[in-house]
Amino acid sequence: MQCFLVQGGLWCAVSQPDELASPFPCGVSPLRQPEGAPSRSALKLEESWLLSGWRPGVRETVIDLGAAPGGWSHACLRRGCRVMAVDNASLRLQHVEELPGELTHLRADGLRFRPPASWLPVDWLLADMLIPPGVCLGLLKKWIGNGWMRRFVVNLKLPQREPLAALAPVREYLAGVPGLRWRMRQLYHDRREVTVMGAITGGLKSPAGGDSAADKRRRTSKPKRRPPAGSTGKRSGDTGKRSGGTGKRSGEITRKPKA
Ligand SMILES: C[S@@+](CC[C@H](N)C(=O)[O-])C[C@H]1O[C@@H](n2cnc3c(N)ncnc32)[C@H](O)[C@@H]1O
Repeated sequence: MQCFLVQGGLWCAVSQPDELASPFPCGVSPLRQPEGAPSRSALKLEESWLLSGWRPGVRETVIDLGAAPGGWSHACLRRGCRVMAVDNASLRLQHVEELPGELTHLRADGLRFRPPASWLPVDWLLADMLIPPGVCLGLLKKWIGNGWMRRFVVNLKLPQREPLAALAPVREYLAGVPGLRWRMRQLYHDRREVTVMGAITGGLKSPAGGDSAADKRRRTSKPKRRPPAGSTGKRSGDTGKRSGGTGKRSGEITRKPKA
């Protein structure tokens, strides 16, 4: 319980201990911006992982919607993830070839984006787009309803007016999803925004069932070695059409580690 003595009265708030408790002394995050990260935004993601205890593992798949300049993608690449960064804006990632993960940058609208079938279900959906909470709710409904991902971290930008009212439909929807564990929190590194973290613990609707793409890869593929420093990125066509036969989409910049 938290109590605030204010002019004209006393405000009390009651909450579950794990919702209010901070893992950091005095609630101050000790996280520092990692070297090479293009923005402080990655600290939000790192903090959400600390708080939820759910972190991406090596070779896990990540779709990062609204990825530019690339802080969240960078955090996942450091962990060896396969990242598809979706944003019409440019990424400002330097020396990405020295990171153990694998990056594809897709210049596309994150709201219309559909994950590639070979990635389903995606291990992580990340979304940090400058869109209203109602639009973000539509995105969550689509991804959860289609069984496209196992876990997510989604940042909701708060409107100037009635921020709590704007969040209520999101809470209501998430509370009604069977098999979903989730938390909504204004993190230390959040500004006028809150972060929603979720994990689907029940069966997924997708044809692939509850078995993650990474689980399947772990069973079927040989362990990957870290790519040598100095390997370079490769850019596909920029025509606005899918490049024939390769399965690549327009505007993709891909860097793959050598097997
Ligand atoms: C707050 S920034 C994201 C910062 C990023 N998470 C990072 O760590 O560097 C918001 C980004 O969302 C992108 N964005 C906004 N609407 C979008 C949409 N519909 N589709 C894709 N990207 C979008 C913007 O271009 C902008 O780069």
